[in-house]
Amino acid sequence: MEGKPLNQTEIKRRGPLKGGITPPSDKSISHRAIIISSLAKGKSRIKNFLRAEDTLRTLEAFKQMGIKIIDEDGVIIVNGKGLNGLLEPENSIECGNSGTTMRLLSGVLAGQPFEARLTGDSSLQRRPMQRIIDPLSKMGAEILSEKGEQPPLTIMGGNLKPEDLTLPIASAQVKSAILFAGLYCDGVTSVTGPARSRDHTERMLRAAGVEVEEIGQKVSVTGIATLKPMDITIPADFSSAAFFIVAGLIIPGSEILIKNVGINPTRIGLISILQDMMGNHIELLNVSEISGEPVADILVKHSKLKGIDAGSNRILSAIDEFPILCVAAAAASGKTKITGAKELRIKESDRISSMAQELQKMGAEVKELDDGIIIKGREKLKPATINSHGDHRVAMAMSIAGLLAEGKTTVKNTDCINTSFPGFFSELEKLME
Ligand code: S3P
Repeated sequence: MEGKPLNQTEIKRRGPLKGGITPPSDKSISHRAIIISSLAKGKSRIKNFLRAEDTLRTLEAFKQMGIKIIDEDGVIIVNGKGLNGLLEPENSIECGNSGTTMRLLSGVLAGQPFEARLTGDSSLQRRPMQRIIDPLSKMGAEILSEKGEQPPLTIMGGNLKPEDLTLPIASAQVKSAILFAGLYCDGVTSVTGPARSRDHTERMLRAAGVEVEEIGQKVSVTGIATLKPMDITIPADFSSAAFFIVAGLIIPGSEILIKNVGINPTRIGLISILQDMMGNHIELLNVSEISGEPVADILVKHSKLKGIDAGSNRILSAIDEFPILCVAAAAASGKTKITGAKELRIKESDRISSMAQELQKMGAEVKELDDGIIIKGREKLKPATINSHGDHRVAMAMSIAGLLAEGKTTVKNTDCINTSFPGFFSELEKLME
């Protein structure tokens, strides 16, 4: 697999995937580790921080606001200055491709007595921000968006008041932004979503000594909070492991041990969907807990997959795994239907349309639904020239699909993979040696 200078990668299968791999560290937890330790007073140590474009955006943003963050022998040391220790940034904060940086940071900035401008790349500038503007404005922040409901955003924070908010969508980014803003409010701030989204913020805030309560779908935080510095060890990202879970299942003769992976129950819907597609060829071994998050080694072996109706309830806990789940469906016998996935239309690309277009090029029969997809699989896919749509997860999912084709598949525009998984292709290579 090569192609760096051309920003494209050629994929050709050489045999089964065999061996062990530790995927890169969890992206969601890495963002939160930087944010929460910057708001704590004192020195936090973050082991296994994800050094990828998205998470480095969050790290740089806090440096820009006066937080001293250094790398000491691979451990990130954050010298937090407390809830009110941030300085007004001189320039706009560049969030790049990272929706998580922009939305989580908005919650923190809502609590600051200064003005800050957040901007991003062309993909991020198309993503909806009204979902954070509404609740944070209700709490008292002034937020100006230059292009209707999209970035850039200018946030003038301070003087927030606690609110009891109800969200129309189940979004961990919006929930987290509100919880961060709630740290600055005198009293209890609550947020109720229509379903339970990932809870890394709640877990880490609790570890920092903040009062966080969860009753059903309602999460409450009590401010004004004081955060303690922490030692945090970050597990490998389930969403990155997902590409190897599916690759191991669909490529004949494969057996892969994926090590030290976060298995937070709000993140692993893919496992239960895949188990319905095949019986039981995924095993969780050495289950333990690291820094308040459950972790395991995941053993996968090649299995025959059959199409299913995946329903709509589990998709929230498999939200970032939609592209690779589509690849599993394309390799399964019969039809797979995935619904309840409307949010996928407004991710780094419209992932429903991106996956439909690209899998069709490889011979899968695909029908787009407004909130999902129906895919009729086939045993072998056709090689094709694939467009990543500038979306890291589409690029990685389609590269795995390329391994199922007989012949050479070219995936164009693969540099975007660096936002979450630098080294993806070299890890894949190692499993083919
Ligand atoms: C994330 C939440 C999800 C997810 C994204 C990361 C987070 O987004 O898709 O990749 O770290 O909180 P939404 O909150 O928009 O669902």
